[in-house]
Amino acid sequence: MMTPTHMMVMQQVKQQLNKEDLSVVEGLNAICETLNKKLEAYDWVGFYFSDFKDKMLHLKAYSGTPTEHTSIPFGKGICGQVALSNENFLVPDVTAQDNYIACSVDVRSELVVPLFLEGENIGQIDIDSKTLNPFTKEDEVFLTELCSLVSSTYGKSLKQL
Ligand code: SME
Repeated sequence: MMTPTHMMVMQQVKQQLNKEDLSVVEGLNAICETLNKKLEAYDWVGFYFSDFKDKMLHLKAYSGTPTEHTSIPFGKGICGQVALSNENFLVPDVTAQDNYIACSVDVRSELVVPLFLEGENIGQIDIDSKTLNPFTKEDEVFLTELCSLVSSTYGKSLKQL
């Protein structure tokens, strides 16, 4: 289940994706900005995509404070672990994680959801929050649906970003 706020934001994202004049990266950035603006705990929102040759994630779109972690090796940090596990990673309190890459000292919690294309984990959406333990099962459902919408909208072009 999603909350009414999630459903409203999802509707807005669908309208943005229907604008044919946006490039893939512009579309992804528009999604990041919408989530950052409309969902209170979403203080930083970004999309990383995998480069399977060098086993790295690369940041392709985001909204929030710029990060120096634009490339992350598979296995490193929360994002790098999701590149390998293919599973959501909800971190209620980042101080409890050993394998964590801090993008800002203000971040208290994080939620990373993988993005699948034809069953393959090709990237992820990463949410950082300055609030401790704000994310719920509804956020996971919302972000899973959002990733599948991005995947079905953009398809294979997501592999050439
Ligand atoms: N905290 C992440 C790194 C990316 S930043 O949140 C933007 C991690 O541990 O993988």
